[in-house]
Amino acid sequence: MYGSGRVLNKLTCIALTIIIISCYCLINLNSRIYTDPSIDYIINNGQFKNYAEISLPFDSLRNLTIYLRLYRDLKKLSKTDKNEFITKFERDTFPWLNGTSMSNFRGEKMSKGIVVCMSDKYMKVGLPVLLSLKDVKNNLPIEIMYYGENDLSVKNRQKLLQISNVIRLIDLSTIFYNVSLAGFAIKPFAILASTFQHVLLMDSDVYFLQSPAKLFVDDDYIQENVMLFSDRTMGKNKTRTTWVNSILPPPFSKTFNESRMVRGLSEHEIESGVVLINKGNDDVLLGLLVICILNVPPYSIYNYVHGDKETYWLGLEMIQKTFYLEQRTGCIGGLVNDDVCGHIIHGDKNEQPLWWNGALLQSKFSRLILLKFTHYAWERRDRYYLWKTPCINVNKTEHITLDQRQTKLIHMYKETLKNVCREMAAEGESCLP
Ligand SMILES: *[C@@H]1O[C@H](CO)[C@@H](O)[C@H](O)[C@H]1NC(C)=O
Ligand SMILES: *[C@@H]1O[C@H](CO)[C@@H](O)[C@H](O)[C@H]1NC(C)=O
Ligand SMILES: *[C@@H]1O[C@H](CO)[C@@H](O)[C@H](O)[C@H]1NC(C)=O
Ligand SMILES: *[C@@H]1O[C@H](CO)[C@@H](O)[C@H](O)[C@H]1NC(C)=O
Ligand SMILES: *[C@@H]1O[C@H](CO)[C@@H](O)[C@H](O)[C@H]1NC(C)=O
Ligand SMILES: *[C@@H]1O[C@H](CO)[C@@H](O)[C@H](O)[C@H]1NC(C)=O
Repeated sequence: MYGSGRVLNKLTCIALTIIIISCYCLINLNSRIYTDPSIDYIINNGQFKNYAEISLPFDSLRNLTIYLRLYRDLKKLSKTDKNEFITKFERDTFPWLNGTSMSNFRGEKMSKGIVVCMSDKYMKVGLPVLLSLKDVKNNLPIEIMYYGENDLSVKNRQKLLQISNVIRLIDLSTIFYNVSLAGFAIKPFAILASTFQHVLLMDSDVYFLQSPAKLFVDDDYIQENVMLFSDRTMGKNKTRTTWVNSILPPPFSKTFNESRMVRGLSEHEIESGVVLINKGNDDVLLGLLVICILNVPPYSIYNYVHGDKETYWLGLEMIQKTFYLEQRTGCIGGLVNDDVCGHIIHGDKNEQPLWWNGALLQSKFSRLILLKFTHYAWERRDRYYLWKTPCINVNKTEHITLDQRQTKLIHMYKETLKNVCREMAAEGESCLP
């Protein structure tokens, strides 16, 4: 009897301890919800009281990211019924969708195409670029995006519609609600608005040396559904390094850890002259929406990075989507002393030049003279080549002479540019050279 009483006492004691610990944990969990919300919490409570209480917009990218990851996971769990959190989060975070279902932006199943943003001020550069795509045997359809009636005149729209493979022009101001897409910010929204599922976004000053369609069959693109290209290693900036290391919550991806910007080796990481995205993949589509967020208020990161460039990889990192990064960069142009000087170039897996950024003039900012294209060179793979000028300084044995086909193509590109300029001059518009 005496013995069993002691056992009972012991059991009561243990039970009490368990209850006290549980209560403590529950209270503690409640107070932690603001900074560390979990799916369980949201699902169990169903009412999302705490989400309604947090101040919006989120006060930091870190907090935004925590909720974005939660949103991503919840959406996967509740494919069919939209719950209160999902509905409210979408309305708060992607207000420019104005309630349009995200799936409307997937594009036509299996379709592939090129997307180019244009405005009146880029016609001089962009019109010759678009006309030249046929010289490189481009067989992809092309969509041209602009923002509002004043961005691209009716006359210029008609000119663009006559270019072979241009299938339509889209005014983004009719698609996205209450958001001004001036400058670089138009680019990710153009990908989103495209009717293609597989989008190759190219700047209006990008020239290809091989058919662009080739990129869509790249194994790494097929696997990752996103292909990005490295920018040159250039300029160290402590402010930027500190910033990029402080904005996101862990865990960090291998790509993030290895990024030159994160490691303080360069203030540039990606160059967005060409971006490939498959909107048919759920994670990529969400990633694209996140990239859009980073380009417009209130979450714009333009105070810390140059335009849209870095928003692609940072946006994907925020929702933990991996991507393929073509790392090697080089330079195409002419020889100046022992350097190749000109524009940044990117190649295929066989190290054949694929596209370059910067069009045909020596510099779009100062020297309005046609660049001489005779050589290209790749930076070495075994180290980070530090660029200082528009020239690459590698061993002369690594200078590669452009072959006959490439030389002929560039000659055609220059002729097209001259023709466009002549026509523009005849219409009273200035055009160089
Ligand atoms: C994250 O949000 C919570 C709740 O709104 C806030 O208390 C906290 O300061 C935020 N954290 C950061 C880093 O902004
Ligand atoms: C935004 O959505 C509301 C409600 O669905 C609709 O009435 C309005 O026309 C939409 N605005 C735009 C610019 O799409
Ligand atoms: C338009 O967006 C701004 C913020 O950029 C916001 O303050 C304003 O309330 C929005 N207007 C409407 C009608 O949604
Ligand atoms: C990235 O670096 C952090 C330390 O800064 C480390 O904890 C983490 O494991 C790394 N991630 C990967 C995928 O290597
Ligand atoms: C370094 O980066 C910061 C943030 O992007 C920028 O404000 C600053 O001008 C940069 N400094 C230099 C020397 O470029
Ligand atoms: C350039 O390459 C050649 C052949 O590989 C080599 O003999 C020479 O030492 C190199 N020069 C420099 C400056 O690295």
